[in-house]
Amino acid sequence: MLIKRLKLKNIRSYKEADIAFPEGIVLLSGDIGSGKSSILLSVEFALFGLLRGELAGSSLLRHGSQEGFVELTFNINNVDYTIRRTLKKNKKSIEQSAGYLLVNGVKKDASATELKSEVLNILGYPKELLTKSKSLIYRFTLYTPQEEMKRILFENEEDRLAILRKVFDIDKYERIKQNAANYNRGLKEKVRQFEGRIADKKEKQELKEQIVKDLDQTLEQIKSIQPNIELAKTELENIKKELEQVEKTKQKVDIITNEIKIFEIKVKSKEQSIKDKEEEFAVVKNKILLLKNELKEVKEDVKSKIDLVKDSISRKEKEISGLRSEIAALNAKKSHSNEVKVKINQLSVCPTCLQEVSANHKLKIVDAENLKISEFDKEISEKESKLKELEQGLLDSKNHLEKLLQADREIAVQKLKSKQLNELTEKEKEIEQFIEKAKIEIEKLALEVKNRKKELEPLLVISKTYEKIRTDFEKAVEKERNLAVEFASVNQKKSSLQNQLSVVEKELEKKAEIEKKLVKLKKIIHWIADYFVPLMDIIEEHVMNSIHFEFNSLFQDWFSMLIDDDLMSAKLNEKFTPIIEQNGYETSVNSLSGGEKTACALAYRLALNKTINKVMSSIKTKDLLILDEPTDGFSSEQLDKMRDVLEQLKLRQIILVSHEQKIEGFADSIIRVSKEEHSSRIL
Ligand SMILES: Nc1ncnc2c1ncn2[C@@H]1O[C@H](COP(=O)(O)OP(=O)(O)OP(=O)(O)O)[C@@H](O)[C@H]1O
Ligand SMILES: [Mg+2]
Repeated sequence: MLIKRLKLKNIRSYKEADIAFPEGIVLLSGDIGSGKSSILLSVEFALFGLLRGELAGSSLLRHGSQEGFVELTFNINNVDYTIRRTLKKNKKSIEQSAGYLLVNGVKKDASATELKSEVLNILGYPKELLTKSKSLIYRFTLYTPQEEMKRILFENEEDRLAILRKVFDIDKYERIKQNAANYNRGLKEKVRQFEGRIADKKEKQELKEQIVKDLDQTLEQIKSIQPNIELAKTELENIKKELEQVEKTKQKVDIITNEIKIFEIKVKSKEQSIKDKEEEFAVVKNKILLLKNELKEVKEDVKSKIDLVKDSISRKEKEISGLRSEIAALNAKKSHSNEVKVKINQLSVCPTCLQEVSANHKLKIVDAENLKISEFDKEISEKESKLKELEQGLLDSKNHLEKLLQADREIAVQKLKSKQLNELTEKEKEIEQFIEKAKIEIEKLALEVKNRKKELEPLLVISKTYEKIRTDFEKAVEKERNLAVEFASVNQKKSSLQNQLSVVEKELEKKAEIEKKLVKLKKIIHWIADYFVPLMDIIEEHVMNSIHFEFNSLFQDWFSMLIDDDLMSAKLNEKFTPIIEQNGYETSVNSLSGGEKTACALAYRLALNKTINKVMSSIKTKDLLILDEPTDGFSSEQLDKMRDVLEQLKLRQIILVSHEQKIEGFADSIIRVSKEEHSSRIL
């Protein structure tokens, strides 16, 4: 890394400054308090920001300013980087606000922490180390603040060793050992867990053997049951067929028995009807006998006589009726004459001619009427005697008719009876025929029954075996079912055992795997504890030795160069503490003079710088060294030696603060700083 340019705004004694840094030995020259150290602090701030306890915002921002910034341009491998950090005053404190990074003309805004992370990257500093030990590397390799130069010599030996271990990252071996131990603890825990998991391996093995034994037994059982089942099935099948056959016969028997029953019922019914018919036949025969006795011969035909008498009666009745009308008419006329007589006697004036009716006239009329009446009486009496005669004749005729009708009715009765007789005779024949037919049918039915019974006989013998076959069949079913149940249960047992076996086998497989892992784990644990950790110790020792060797020889060289005294030499003890040997006596740094102390400190710092740069190949700040008043208290000769030392360093850029005139002599360029009215400026 080469510093190229630094811009300041309101930083410490600077209001504004823009400083260009050339390559080579650059001397910052100026009076006390002119603003030299401020430039170097600003470079550190630009790179790493505020450092708690080391670089505070309040010591950077110019008193009375609200805001300020530092902008640093540096070059690494021909790439220019410009970084700007800003400081802002708040109510309580001064804090960094966002800044930016410019790489190859590309600007990237970033927060303070982002900028730090970017810079660590660019400088190739191990991030982790830097955050933990602040910017120790930077401060030990590149730049040590003015007051810090000698401090490192007078630090407590253990603290210095701790810092140096951090700087050289020796701690990593301790961390590795620690991590390895932690890892091993974890592995041991795993081993314990694994051992716990395989603790029951023997039991599981025994269980497996037991299951295998049980399974073998079960398979044997299955083998022995299987033929029995086959046998039982065949038996069952045979009995079933037999049973079906017998059942068919039984059905046939039932059908025939039923038929016989029906025939017998028919026979009975026929016999009953024969009986009924025979009774009926007796009745009919009896009736016929009776009717035959009752039947008489019909002598004459009364029908024509009845007609004649009926005619005579009707004629007589007409005559009688004619006579009765005539007698009535005569009686009517007689009454009229009597009325006329009464009326004429009572009449005084004629109603027609209205003339007075004389007694004579009245008498004449009465006489006439009396004549009429006597004629009427005569005629009536003749007619009545004739009527009497006719009525007698009618009565006789009616009596005669009655007798004739009686005779006719009797004839009809005879005819009816004769008809009945015929019918009964017919019936008698019918009954005879029926009985005959029924008897034939009964015979036929009896024959049928006989035949059926004959047919039934052999069947009955078979059907009698039905119950036995049925029982055999049920037994065979039961036997087959029991065997099937037994078989299923044994099979169930088999699959359950197989499942158990596969579970146990899987468990055992896992346990075997775990055992393998255990062997591996134990190997690893052994390797870590017995090889890896001791190896780290060896590596640590080696690294320490090589660092010590490098650091010590550089320190010795530069010390003897700066203190050009044959009687005085220096070396580093195993804890990197400088041990001075003066005139054959070992002495501490404390007893050295001020100039000697400065020389010792400078030799120590330069040796440390070189060693770190060598050990840490990645860092990119190897070309640069910044020294703030490294020659405080140096004699003129020592200042001359300083020139040799700087030349020996062979760095591209050394920024040096000194107010020694002599140093101006070997500086390649000088940046002069002065301060007027509390404001620094570059001359
Ligand atoms: N925050 C600040 N604001 C203003 N001035 C400050 C601030 N901090 C320090 N100063 C002053 O700035 C001046 C420059 O200080 P600096 O440390 O850069 O001086 P120097 O040139 O290195 O002096 P020396 O040769 O004595 O080491 C000093 O006078 C110091 O008191
Ligand atoms: Mg100073």
